[in-house]
Amino acid sequence: MLSLDLGIASIPTLWIWAGCPYDRRSSGGYCIFLASNLISWSAKRQQSVARSSTEAAEYRSFILRSKPFLQSPPFSLRGCKENFSTSKQQVTASQNLLTEVLTATRTELILFLRAEAAAAAAKHANGTMVAFLIVFLTSLLTLTTLPAAESRLYSNYYRKSCPRFNQIVQDTVTNKQITSPTTAAATLRLFFHDCLHNGCDASILVSSTPFNKAERDADINLSLPGDAFDVVVRAKTALELACPNTVSCADILAVATRDLVTMMGGPYYNVPLGRRDGRVSKASAVEGTLPRPAMPVSQLIQVFGSRGFSVQEMVALSGAHTIGFTHCSEFSSAIYNYSKSEQYDPQYNPRFAAGLQQACADYHKNPTMSVFNDVMTPNKFDNVYFQNLPKGLGLLKSDHALFNDPRTRPFVELYAKDQNTFFQAFARAMEKLGVHGIQTGRRGEIRHRCDEFN
Ligand code: HEM
Repeated sequence: MLSLDLGIASIPTLWIWAGCPYDRRSSGGYCIFLASNLISWSAKRQQSVARSSTEAAEYRSFILRSKPFLQSPPFSLRGCKENFSTSKQQVTASQNLLTEVLTATRTELILFLRAEAAAAAAKHANGTMVAFLIVFLTSLLTLTTLPAAESRLYSNYYRKSCPRFNQIVQDTVTNKQITSPTTAAATLRLFFHDCLHNGCDASILVSSTPFNKAERDADINLSLPGDAFDVVVRAKTALELACPNTVSCADILAVATRDLVTMMGGPYYNVPLGRRDGRVSKASAVEGTLPRPAMPVSQLIQVFGSRGFSVQEMVALSGAHTIGFTHCSEFSSAIYNYSKSEQYDPQYNPRFAAGLQQACADYHKNPTMSVFNDVMTPNKFDNVYFQNLPKGLGLLKSDHALFNDPRTRPFVELYAKDQNTFFQAFARAMEKLGVHGIQTGRRGEIRHRCDEFN
């Protein structure tokens, strides 16, 4: 632990420990105190393990000094080796320490560090300054309890750490979209499914393991196209070369989506950055959190509403169906043997229904058979999707429902009439979707690979 002399009191301010024996990267952290009050706290994994003897000595002395504290509740140095004579042992010992510290709750850690800081401050404090500090720190403490500082995103988040971030993402998505034109819609849907379920934390990108069936393997996510995953992987690979361990997969997915929407002719919107990647991805948690075409409008409203989205925002976001396609199986029950008296759902335009029956005739044999969501301008991000709905040219039951329900119809009509209004509403709703449930600060991680946790 190092000290910073602020001229007020000698205050423990920096907390460093060595790191993981497997990847040989060290972790550093700091706690900034004024007297006994913690005003900032952070931990970050570094590129490499300490090599110099000075650093090693510092870690060693820190570990030895902290051991009595860490052996008492709530901490315990289970299995910590006491012999620091080789670097391997040093790393192993401090790995234990790190694990123990990090597994203690944040409150416990803060209490421990605060006690340490108070002791040091008391030793050195001069009487006059203490009186000043009490008033000053009381207000600082109040401030530190506000969660806002942790949840902020910034447009220029990677300005210093990865200045080419935007360019790299843009180049990657442009190349990918040119070679695979289905990428834009695929990525937009992937982003939506990631964000609505449990926040924009790239948890949808994680692959299943023998011990964990991941989100992407939930039934509703099986139709998410590989191109969307691929574009994020490509951008991540390029970014890891340019600025290793810096950019989150969640930020890449958010920016790639925005760039692709814009490339398709849709509105540009701000994507503030600093999201961190989630550490949980569970298929079992997905059911019921994402909308399905067969859901009645009340249920759709509830699915969106429970995550803070208004009816108007839900309709605006659904305008995403202006691009991309849908597998025949998603609407086959509406176009074949619909009821005893009707071949197809009467909400469909008769000629459109006949066209769909023909297009999907083989879908049992070939389950990849698909139809464009917006049959009129499938490759353009515009408001024609909304213009289609009153004409019975919607593809999914839920698309038709948006026009037929009195709660959603006014917004469909508004957006069908005015593309600018739709674009503005879509952009605002996407900005809101993009910050839904995000993790920042010390929460989550910067994944090395988007498809697996660190
Ligand atoms: C209102 C509720 C919604 C329902 C019931 C719904 C359902 C669906 C379904 C069933 C598909 C076809 C999937 C397939 O067969 O591969 C689809 C495609 C798509 N959805 Fe939605 N969706 C909804 C809202 C949204 C929202 C809010 C967005 C984005 C903000 C979105 C973006 C997309 C896109 C872009 C596609 C095309 C994907 C591709 O071409 O690969 N959807 N949606």
